[in-house]
Amino acid sequence: MLIDTYGRVATDLRVSLTDRCNLRCTYCMPEEGLQWLAKPDLLTDDEIVRLIDIAVRTLGIEEVRFTGGEPLLRPGLVGIVERVAALAPRPQMSLTTNGIGLKRTATALKAAGLDRVNVSLDTLRPEVFKTLTRRDRHKDVIEGLEAAHAAGLTPVKINSVLMPGLNDDEAPDLLAWAVEHGYELRFIEQMPLDAQHGWKRDGMVTAGDILASLRTRFDLTPEDAGARGSAPAERWLVDGGPHRVGVIASVTRPFCAACDRTRLTADGQIRTCLFATEETDLRAALRSDAPDEEIARIWKLAMWGKKAGAGLDDPSFVQPDRPMSAIGG
Ligand code: GTP
Ligand code: 5AD
Ligand code: SF4
Repeated sequence: MLIDTYGRVATDLRVSLTDRCNLRCTYCMPEEGLQWLAKPDLLTDDEIVRLIDIAVRTLGIEEVRFTGGEPLLRPGLVGIVERVAALAPRPQMSLTTNGIGLKRTATALKAAGLDRVNVSLDTLRPEVFKTLTRRDRHKDVIEGLEAAHAAGLTPVKINSVLMPGLNDDEAPDLLAWAVEHGYELRFIEQMPLDAQHGWKRDGMVTAGDILASLRTRFDLTPEDAGARGSAPAERWLVDGGPHRVGVIASVTRPFCAACDRTRLTADGQIRTCLFATEETDLRAALRSDAPDEEIARIWKLAMWGKKAGAGLDDPSFVQPDRPMSAIGG
């Protein structure tokens, strides 16, 4: 079991498969991209599957989410999913993607055993998409969403970040569209995880702003207490249900006390938290032929040291060196 000194138990593992991406979202990375990890530094497919096997067999991990950068850029993704689906016990498996490439891969991913996907989509307007992501790929994302839905990678969830002056007027339109198409929409408060360190508390769109904007067009009732569990998203029923909308308010309504997560970077470092400023190296242990028990011991010890919370709103908050795209969200 991965337990920390606050009694929190991690049952959810997020595995970043690559730090690369084919978009350049302004709240994430600069136009020129970043200094990508070198191939020999990345965990191999075998190393990833071995770590997940140890995690589900001996550490109590029940759910695995593949992230990036953009995880669909990892050549071995379908094979990794297939091998993880064959593990005992078999974990729930999901993927967080920008949606480009899903049109091509959704059916194969479902067949390989992936359960569901979360797709980033911040706007319904192709021109705004181009400004926000610096790439003209809006159509690919919409087609990717449709393919995921058709392939049964459901519930398909959409993640939207609202940026002042760009798409902060779009919350009700996005929700109406998501309800119409059967996608579960969640708005995410912008977090200080951009590579450029340009995040400003004053400039961000808050959960309060988002809910007020949605309530100009929809009746929102909070979901039953207890339904949330450890999920980052707080959810509301839209016009009495059954459709829901979520808000992930990491800044203004932190949820660290209920956290059930552990993270693995593409270069084999354990992160106890999205905002951790320290990491624990598992790759060195893997590559020095450590037995499973030793890997499990290192992982447990790292999680035991997990901090109480990130405190994004505290003046003392320090942004981690690794940007979001190299952590996996
Ligand atoms: P579900 O299981 O579908 O609820 O997935 P999720 O919302 O946990 O995962 P997803 O990858 O879609 O992430 C949505 C947003 O939540 C992203 O911006 C993540 O960075 C953020 N997020 C995920 N885990 C954490 C966390 O532990 N802490 C904080 N503050 N944010 C998180
Ligand atoms: N703040 C909030 N969300 C972000 N994402 C990427 N960078 C940030 C940020 N700085 C979102 C992506 C994706 C999810 C994994 O996190 O849009 O949907
Ligand atoms: Fe790529 Fe996601 Fe970063 Fe956008 S937010 S540039 S899709 S990693």
